Amino acid sequence: MNGTLRTLFFSPTHSSRKIALVLGESLTAALGKSQESRDLTFPLDREKSLDCGPDDVLVFAFPVYGGRVPQVLEAPLSRLRGNGATAVIAAVYGNRDYDDALLEAADLLTRRGFTVAAAGAFIAEHSVAPTVGAGRPDAEDTRVLTDFAKRAAAKIAAGNPAPVSVKGKRPYKERGPAADVRPKTTDACTQCMICVAGCPMGVISKDDPAVVAAGCIRCRACVKFCPEDAKFFDDPGTAKIREMLESKCLARREPELFL
Ligand SMILES: Cc1cc2nc3c(=O)[nH]c(=O)nc-3n(C[C@H](O)[C@H](O)[C@H](O)COP(=O)(O)O)c2cc1C
Ligand code: SF4
Ligand code: SF4
Repeated sequence: MNGTLRTLFFSPTHSSRKIALVLGESLTAALGKSQESRDLTFPLDREKSLDCGPDDVLVFAFPVYGGRVPQVLEAPLSRLRGNGATAVIAAVYGNRDYDDALLEAADLLTRRGFTVAAAGAFIAEHSVAPTVGAGRPDAEDTRVLTDFAKRAAAKIAAGNPAPVSVKGKRPYKERGPAADVRPKTTDACTQCMICVAGCPMGVISKDDPAVVAAGCIRCRACVKFCPEDAKFFDDPGTAKIREMLESKCLARREPELFL
C-alpha cells in the first residue's frame, strides 16, 4: 500500500500537536508510509489547501473549544479534499467534556471526502485552568495512544475500513456568544516577542506586545508561553469558567476510543 501519512493539527498551546505527532509516528511505523505534517496553527498555513488520494491516511488533531471544533478551523477544513482517503481523528480536551466536537469533526471530514476509520477523545491540560488535566497527556495516555494507533493501522491495512460511529449529538452544542475579550499585559513584559510569534491570530502588536487587536480567540498561548507571566485575562467570564473547572472537573477522565 503506497500513499502518505499526513498529520494535520491546530494547537496553540501544543497539546494537540503532541498527540498528533504520537499518533502520526505510530501509524507511519505500522503502515510503512511516507510522512508529512501540516500545522494549521498560524494564519498563512491555514490558507493552504490539501489534496489527498485514496491511499493516503490523514491524522487530524484539534483542541475542543466550547464542546466544538474551533471555529477558526472552518475555512481551512473546507479546503481539504479527501478523494477517498482514510482519516483518524483526535479531539483533545481539557478534562471537562468534548461534547459534540468529535462528531462535528467526523462529519466535516466525511463531507470533504474522507472515510473516518478511527477516532478518539484524549485529555490534556486545560489551557484556561492548568490545574485541570495537569500533566496530561501522561505516560498512560501515551500508552493508550500508541495502542489506539496500532489498532487503527490494523483496521486500515485490512482494506476498505468501515466508517466509525462516534459519540455526540446533532445539532451540535451551540457556540458561546462571541465576545471581544483580550489578554492584558503587566509591566513585567520585556518585549521578548514570544507571544507575538506564538499567537495563532496574529493580533499581538509587533511594535508593542501589550497592544492586542480585536480577533483574539482566547487560546491562552500568550499566557502559557510568556516567560515573565506578564499576560493575563481578568474578565469576569474567564474567572467564572476557571472556578467552575477547578471545582467540578478535577476527577481524572480517560480517553474514549472509537474503532
Ligand atoms: C477557548 C477554549 C475553550 C475550551 N473549551 C473546552 C471544552 O469545552 N471542554 C474541555 O474539556 N476543554 C476545553 N478547553 C481546553 C482545551 O481543549 C485543552 O486545553 C486543549 O488541550 C488545548 O489544546 P492545544 O494545547 O492543542 O492548544 C478549552 C480551551 C479554550 C482555550
Ligand atoms: S511573551 Fe511576555 S514578556 Fe514577551 S513580549 Fe509577550 S508579554 Fe512581553
Ligand atoms: S492574544 Fe488571544 S489569540 Fe493571541 S495568543 Fe493570546 S489568547 Fe491566543
